[in-house]
Amino acid sequence: MSEPVIKCENVYKIFGADAKKMLQDSNGNVDAKTFQENGCIVGVNNASFEVSKGEMLVVMGLSGSGKSTLLRCISRLTDATGGKIFIEGQDLLQLNNKELIDLRRNKMGMVFQSFALLPHKTVVENIAFPLQIKGIKTEDSISKAMEIKTL
Ligand SMILES: Nc1ncnc2c1ncn2[C@@H]1O[C@H](COP(=O)(O)OP(=O)(O)O)[C@@H](O)[C@H]1O
Ligand SMILES: [Mg+2]
Repeated sequence: MSEPVIKCENVYKIFGADAKKMLQDSNGNVDAKTFQENGCIVGVNNASFEVSKGEMLVVMGLSGSGKSTLLRCISRLTDATGGKIFIEGQDLLQLNNKELIDLRRNKMGMVFQSFALLPHKTVVENIAFPLQIKGIKTEDSISKAMEIKTL
């Protein structure tokens, strides 16, 4: 089987000044309550998964369970506190700024929640919008967005 497109290995994101040290001391056994009592908030607790080409993964959970934080780690909008993330086999933390920009421009897309969408545009138009900013013709961007929408 070919290499996964996204691979997360024991990813943790913990907020707080002592997050890194507390994670190290815990040996990977993170108890959210104990961490909270010590001034740290556990955003993502030991997430491991792979997504291969053609697969769709839906991350579901209660509000505050860490979905957005996990996605931010994968796009490196925030740095994970522990663990490894690979995009097409490349270690996300090893990418320099230029490679990171390239990855975000060409391999990732993010459609935000309702408050950050353009209300006068349809769902498909909102998905197509970043491609139009990149200079892709409206017609082509819409057909690309339709592909994604109907995956
Ligand atoms: N910048 C931050 N500083 C401190 N805590 C945060 C921060 N961002 C998220 N959290 C906390 O991390 C947890 C997961 O949040 P989030 O990823 O937004 O959840 P979801 O997207 O599943 O609703 C929550 O307890 C939230 O309060
Ligand atoms: Mg969220």
